[in-house]
Amino acid sequence: MNDFVSPSALSPSALSTHKQHLSGGLQVQHVSKSFALKGAPLPVLEDIALTIAPGEFVAIVGASGCGKSTLLRLLAGLDTDYTGLLLHDGVPIRGTDLRRGLVFQDHRLFPWLTVQQNVAVAFSNTKVPLAERDARVAAEITRVGLDGYADAYPHQLSGGMSQRAAIARALVGRPDVLLLDEPLGALDALTRLRLQQELRRLWQDEGITMVMVTHDIDEAVYLADRIVVLDARPGKVRRVQEVPLAHPRQRGSAGFVAIRDGLHADFSDLDESNAPVAQEEHPSSLWDGNEWARRMAL
Ligand SMILES: Nc1ncnc2c1ncn2[C@@H]1O[C@H](COP(=O)(O)OP(=O)(O)OP(=O)(O)O)[C@@H](O)[C@H]1O
Ligand SMILES: [Mg+2]
Repeated sequence: MNDFVSPSALSPSALSTHKQHLSGGLQVQHVSKSFALKGAPLPVLEDIALTIAPGEFVAIVGASGCGKSTLLRLLAGLDTDYTGLLLHDGVPIRGTDLRRGLVFQDHRLFPWLTVQQNVAVAFSNTKVPLAERDARVAAEITRVGLDGYADAYPHQLSGGMSQRAAIARALVGRPDVLLLDEPLGALDALTRLRLQQELRRLWQDEGITMVMVTHDIDEAVYLADRIVVLDARPGKVRRVQEVPLAHPRQRGSAGFVAIRDGLHADFSDLDESNAPVAQEEHPSSLWDGNEWARRMAL
């Protein structure tokens, strides 16, 4: 089966959706980032350059520890300590912003708040009137398929439902960019496939720019317009793979398999210097989600 779209339709915006996208463009210009490790600088990202068109779906893959989450945190505005330039629709990213929603691998909902309250956290200290907040929260809960669970607490939800609630929290601010850090990584295979389809529909219906970190190459080929392959230590763009396949994509089709196998080959040469490294203990992985929600509330 030939599922390639014509080369004339290869531009990201043509591939993305049928909508006209006016906002949600991201630019990463010569971005480098180091952490201090035992007093010495640990370079984590080196000279990353990437332009993401409004409405585009970009996946980021790479070995564990190569800096994928770090890059996403920079794009979110959670970390502003880097060199280079990050732009959202041409404007420098200087902190968190409701226009950039963020979803983490583990949902990181506040356990003491209900689904409704967790989603509404994004509105704390904003000027959005209460009635409008309630309506928007309810609409997002419906959109992610959690009708009837607004008053449930996180421990009363399945993993997939919690992840849906986290997606609703990221969407309620009407972002034009959704940053997803392995959002489906902790889910069982069937739930994962279902949520992949839901993310695809959401992206096609809403025209939101999506930047998704994933370890799952199949997932990246299923969803993304382009797949950025990062090298490790320090994280650098090794190459960018276009995925010029029409949606919904057929995982068994020749075009799909060819791209997937090509990406797998990228990871078959992981040698000592590029192999996944043991993660240093650092607090960010523990509190990113709630920290994001808290800062959004400031
Ligand atoms: N706050 C921090 N302080 C010190 N080092 C950090 C911090 N955050 C991340 N690092 C280090 O930066 C490197 C990249 O981490 P990052 O979490 O971005 O990797 P990743 O590609 O997302 O990995 P994984 O696929 O395992 O999630 C790692 O070596 C990690 O130990
Ligand atoms: Mg990570």
